[in-house]
Amino acid sequence: MEKRLKIAIQKSGRLSDSSKALLKECGIQIKNGKNNLMAPAVNFPIDILYLRDDDIPQYVEDGTADLGILGENVVAETDKNIITAKKLGFAKCRLSLAVPKSDDYNSLLFFQNKKIATSYPVILSSFLKKNNIDAEIHKISGSVEIAPNIGLADAVCDIVSSGSTLFSNGLKEVEVILQSEAVVVANTNLDEEQTKIFEQLMFRIDAVKSAKKNKYILLNAPNSAIPSITNILPGIKSPTILPLAEEGWSSLHSVVNEEQFWNIIDELKVAGAEGILVIPIEKMIS
Ligand code: PRP
Ligand code: ZN
Repeated sequence: MEKRLKIAIQKSGRLSDSSKALLKECGIQIKNGKNNLMAPAVNFPIDILYLRDDDIPQYVEDGTADLGILGENVVAETDKNIITAKKLGFAKCRLSLAVPKSDDYNSLLFFQNKKIATSYPVILSSFLKKNNIDAEIHKISGSVEIAPNIGLADAVCDIVSSGSTLFSNGLKEVEVILQSEAVVVANTNLDEEQTKIFEQLMFRIDAVKSAKKNKYILLNAPNSAIPSITNILPGIKSPTILPLAEEGWSSLHSVVNEEQFWNIIDELKVAGAEGILVIPIEKMIS
């Protein structure tokens, strides 16, 4: 029988929709069976395991799952023997210390002899130790942000994404301990066949990721403007240049980085470009 890889993703929560969307963008169709703990992909040799994100590192370490998609925050907190294979660029957040809005905060010394509520005791205690702060860590597993309001703690150490949870609980972020985003993790003992499937999947993820970072750009320009426009376009290769029906004009096609493209468009207009079209790229293989 053909080998298959088991990939664990978050069953529900901040990462789960994006994790499923990523697999879909990789062209992988998942069969939605009634048994929703595990679902086979129909056109790629992987099976999806739906788990609590906090449990994924353990399952990947012991080989119950071969791969996992989860936040770096959970990878760091659980500290298992697994490989972080790839950053995925979504579910960006940070693990931060926050205190009541009305408290004066000047430095980490604020936390000396204070009580801090968190679901991340491992990361927090090593951070405090490194900074020579002696504080009491109060481990709670959910709704950490209400702890100061009910007198359970003086401060919290929790995940911040938009910041709205802190804001609505009257807290302010004062120190960032860790930056985090979704990553692919892997078991350390994949065999040759499993490694092959793993590499195929990483290849597809790379194609999806680079497509997202880039746009396809088309524009028209008088032939005299082609050299300066070509200089502006930071394409993967030199741009494609096609003659237009109108004498002395050409159409230029290239790929531009999403982050730079507003700047470039201004420069292109100045250089004489007209009829600029910017189109999303579905997959990009380099
Ligand atoms: C985190 C954190 C807050 C919220 C912050 O929970 O505990 O509740 O996200 O987000 P915001 O800054 O956008 O308001 P998370 O989704 O990581 O849940 P989990 O810890 O149970 O995985
Ligand atoms: Zn969680």
